[in-house]
Amino acid sequence: MGNGIDQALSADWPYPRLVAHRCGGGLAPENTLAGFDACVRFGYRMVEFDAKLSADNQIFLLHDDDLDRTTNGRGPAALHTWQQLASLDAGAWFDARFRDERLPTLAQAAARCERDAIAANIEIKPCPGREEVTGRLVALAAKDLWRVQKPLLSSFSFDALRAARDVAPSLPRGMLFDALPDDWMRIVRELACVSLHANHRRLTQRNVRMMHDAGLRVLAYTVNDPARARELVKWGVDMICTDRLDMIGADVVG
Ligand code: G3P
Ligand code: MG
Repeated sequence: MGNGIDQALSADWPYPRLVAHRCGGGLAPENTLAGFDACVRFGYRMVEFDAKLSADNQIFLLHDDDLDRTTNGRGPAALHTWQQLASLDAGAWFDARFRDERLPTLAQAAARCERDAIAANIEIKPCPGREEVTGRLVALAAKDLWRVQKPLLSSFSFDALRAARDVAPSLPRGMLFDALPDDWMRIVRELACVSLHANHRRLTQRNVRMMHDAGLRVLAYTVNDPARARELVKWGVDMICTDRLDMIGADVVG
């Protein structure tokens, strides 16, 4: 777009264009350390993952409220202690090759980011009713654990991001939306967000321009079609979050 706003935006943005969804996209069990291996293998330099709390407030990586789909456990994750969660298999559901893969803690994810020089988008994914405490504890931990580059925090939960802002204002924040609400600008301003993370299916070129004009970076999720990724980049979308690490690379997004 080439206007003054875009130039000001690009000066202080440390994150790469491509982001591996749930650590390794579709190439490894989601939200596991095996996903980091896939990320490295395909030359990705940033991961997105989902973080929530166990019953005794350990921060760990899991997308769903329940354990059933991606582990050999049953029922709500929020009702299990970390000791119970730590023994679960989080890989066999995906492929027998990943049997014995465990649910990672946030600290383990931070160590992998540092070891492999991978940037992080930590999506705060609270279990129902635990929004504020999850935002607070994730932000406090992330501030200490990421020593090289600040992680980008994001959430669909306003309350979680507000709690994160209150305890760790220096960590950058991105508001996640599925459908863009009419008052999106008020929300991102109130949370002092640096980015807006949008469902690419509902994103238009006009929206992207408005977001940039509001001083925000734009992340589009979950973009698995190379042609669509190319189009979004043409619109100026700053980050493409994808499962297709094997199909969407630097040759596609430039
Ligand atoms: O943060 C982008 C994306 O991960 C949001 O959707 O459901 O995959 O966490 P979901
Ligand atoms: Mg996510």
